[in-house]
Amino acid sequence: MKNTYFDLIDQSYYFPQEGFDLRDGYLNFHGISLKYLIDKYKTPFKLLYLPRISDQIKKARNLFNLAIKKNEYKGKYYYCYCTKCCHFYHVVKKALSEGIHIETSSSFDIDLILKLYKMGNINKRVIIVHNGYKTEDYIRKIVKLNQMGFDNSIVVLDSKIEILRVKKYADELDMQFKIGIRMAINEEPQSAYHTSRLGIRQSEIMDFYRSHIEGDASFQLKMVHFFVDSGIKDNMYYWGEFKKALKLFVELKQACPDIKALNLGGGFPIRNNLGFEYDYEYIINELVNNIQSACDAVGVDHPDIFTEFGKYTVGESGAIIFSVLEQKQQNDAEKWYMIDNSLINTIPDSWSIYEKFILLPINKWSNEYSQVNIGGISCDHSDYYNSEDMNQQVILPNYQNDDDEPLYIGFFHTGAYQDAISGYGGIKHCLIPSPKMIIIDRDERGNFVDTVYRNEQTVDEMLDILGYG
Ligand SMILES: Cc1ncc(COP(=O)(O)O)c(C=O)c1O
Repeated sequence: MKNTYFDLIDQSYYFPQEGFDLRDGYLNFHGISLKYLIDKYKTPFKLLYLPRISDQIKKARNLFNLAIKKNEYKGKYYYCYCTKCCHFYHVVKKALSEGIHIETSSSFDIDLILKLYKMGNINKRVIIVHNGYKTEDYIRKIVKLNQMGFDNSIVVLDSKIEILRVKKYADELDMQFKIGIRMAINEEPQSAYHTSRLGIRQSEIMDFYRSHIEGDASFQLKMVHFFVDSGIKDNMYYWGEFKKALKLFVELKQACPDIKALNLGGGFPIRNNLGFEYDYEYIINELVNNIQSACDAVGVDHPDIFTEFGKYTVGESGAIIFSVLEQKQQNDAEKWYMIDNSLINTIPDSWSIYEKFILLPINKWSNEYSQVNIGGISCDHSDYYNSEDMNQQVILPNYQNDDDEPLYIGFFHTGAYQDAISGYGGIKHCLIPSPKMIIIDRDERGNFVDTVYRNEQTVDEMLDILGYG
C-alpha cells in the first residue's frame, strides 16, 4: 500500500491546523492559496500575512486581561512591540493599529518613531520603552523626543554608566527623564552559568539606585525591566530567574514607590513544528499570579505589566516559498533537494543558531516520501537545512525529475528577525548602520593611500528600504 506524505502528516499531527490546510491537493497558508501565489509571482518569494499580527496581539492582550480579572490584580497590562524583530512600515503600522506601544533599541529606531508620528500612526501619548545600548546619538535623539512632548518615553538603563550620560542632558537642559533599570539575568546554563551582558548586575542595583537615582529630581524611576532571552518557558530555569527578578523588584519598589511598571521583555514562543504545544493561558496566569503574590507578601502595589513580544507578534505571519530545482543522491543514505535560493541568505537563523521552522511541501502530498537534506545554491558548505542538531527529521514527498510541476516547499513562521539578520535589501539588525568602508593601497613610491569607498549608511537609506520613504 502506498504510504503518502499526507498519511504521514495526518497520522503524526492534528492536521489541518490553524494556518495550514489542503485544498485541491495544494497547501493553503491562513486560507491563502500558495499555488495561486506561485503561479502569479514564481518562486522564490517571501510573504507576510499581516492579519496574523493583529490576531497575536489580541490573543495575548485578552489572556493578560483575563488573568488580571481572575486574580483581581490591580495593575494594567501594556503590549509593546519590539521593532527590532521586523521594522518594515507595513508590519509596525499593522501592530500599531491594535493600539499597542513601542520598544526601541537603537538610534535609527528613534527616527523611525518620528516618521511614524509624521505619518500619523502614533501620537505623543504612546509609551516608548528605550532599551539597548545608549550611544551618544541614541541619547541625543531620545532627548529630542522628550523635548517634542513625547512624555511617555522611558529610558531603560542598560548599564550604570548610562545614567551619567542622561544626567548630563538633564542638567544642561534642565529636563526630567522617566527611567527604568534593566536587571541582568543569569543566562540559561549550557556548560556554565554566566551573567548576561545586557543590563545591570542584580547584586548592584540597590546600591546603584541609592547612589545615583534616589533624591535626584532629574529622574523618575518608573520601570524595572528584565528579559530572559531564551524565552518564557515553563521550566525551572525560567521560573528561577523570574522569582529572582521579582525579589529585587519588590525590594526596589519598597525603596521607590514611584515605580509603576514591571517589564518582562519578550520571549513568547511561536509554533516551529506542527506538534508544538504551549499553554499561553496557563503561563500568563502564572506570571500575573506570581507578581501579585510577591507584591502582596511585602505590601506594595501591583505594578503595571509590560511585555515586548517580537517573535510572537510577527513570526507566524511570515513564510518563504521555494522550488526544488534538482534532487541529488550523494550516497545511499543522503538525498539532497536543491532549492532556488540560499538558506543562509533567507532564513539565516536556521544556519547560525539551528533555529527550526515549520517546513511543508506545497504540492505532491499524495506522493510517497523520504528523508532529505535541503541545499541552497550558494557555494557555502553550510548552506543547508537538515535534521542535524535538530530534533526534527526533514521529510518531504518524492518526485520524478520529469514531473510536469516541480516540487514547491515552504518554510513557515519566518516573519521574525530573518530579514534584519540576513540584511534584506541593506537593512541591519537593530538598525545599526553599515560602517564606512576605507580602501587602502600603496602608490608607485610605496606610500599608503587611503580613501573612503562608502560612508556609514544613513538613516534615510535604511528607512527607505523599510517603507518609510
Ligand atoms: C529587550 C528586548 N525586548 C524584547 C525582545 C523581543 O524578544 P522576542 O522576539 O523573543 O519576543 C528582545 C529581543 O532580543 C529584547 O532584546
